[in-house]
Amino acid sequence: MRIELNNIGHRYVDGPLLFHGLSVTLLPNHVYALTGPSGSGKSTLLGIIAGWIRPSNGEVSKQNVDSMRWVFQNPHGIAQRTVLDHVSLPLLAKGLTRKQAEYEAVPALKRFGLNHVADHRFSDLSGGEAQRLMLARAFVAHPSLMLVDEPTAQLDMHTAATISDALTRIAQSDTIVVVSTHDPRTRDACTDVIDLKDFQ
Ligand SMILES: Nc1ncnc2c1ncn2[C@@H]1O[C@H](COP(=O)(O)OP(=O)(O)O)[C@@H](O)[C@H]1O
Ligand SMILES: [Mg+2]
Repeated sequence: MRIELNNIGHRYVDGPLLFHGLSVTLLPNHVYALTGPSGSGKSTLLGIIAGWIRPSNGEVSKQNVDSMRWVFQNPHGIAQRTVLDHVSLPLLAKGLTRKQAEYEAVPALKRFGLNHVADHRFSDLSGGEAQRLMLARAFVAHPSLMLVDEPTAQLDMHTAATISDALTRIAQSDTIVVVSTHDPRTRDACTDVIDLKDFQ
């Protein structure tokens, strides 16, 4: 499994050139930090990697990438449902029984530091817990590709550190993970850095 970005460049109609000449190979078991200031094109590049945005230049080729999850900047969940419900849902959707789904969900909750809130409702979670829940829910589906857009943007420093820990733990998971961020600590938690500054 791999994703090759070959000489990618992008500008929106009438907009400035955001980046150009970006060539990189993305592999499983890596967590790539996609860095650059606000407005530099991080979310755009995630969209290009996802295949939602066609780049103005270059091409993206994907080999054996058959599933993808996108984790948004603001956690969205169902207020009255528990943490365990949220993480079980993608597994139930795959056809697992409730019991099997919970059996697989529990280690994912541990991995993201959520085991102590497994039976808490989404509406009662802190910002950091809710964001980790979004990561856990994406992770449990074992996607080939996970795209995470500014996971710590809305969080205080301490809470952001718990997200960074969680990202480190996703690295060995046969998933290609790309995290856009302008938080140095989130960047340091990743295994590789793609800095858009190098492609301006
Ligand atoms: N759909 C769009 N059409 C035109 N311009 C856009 C669109 N999406 C983003 N932009 C512009 O492209 C630039 C890069 O945006 P974005 O990729 O969101 O940057 P970042 O995620 O690094 O903050 C910004 O100036 C933004 O206003
Ligand atoms: Mg963005």
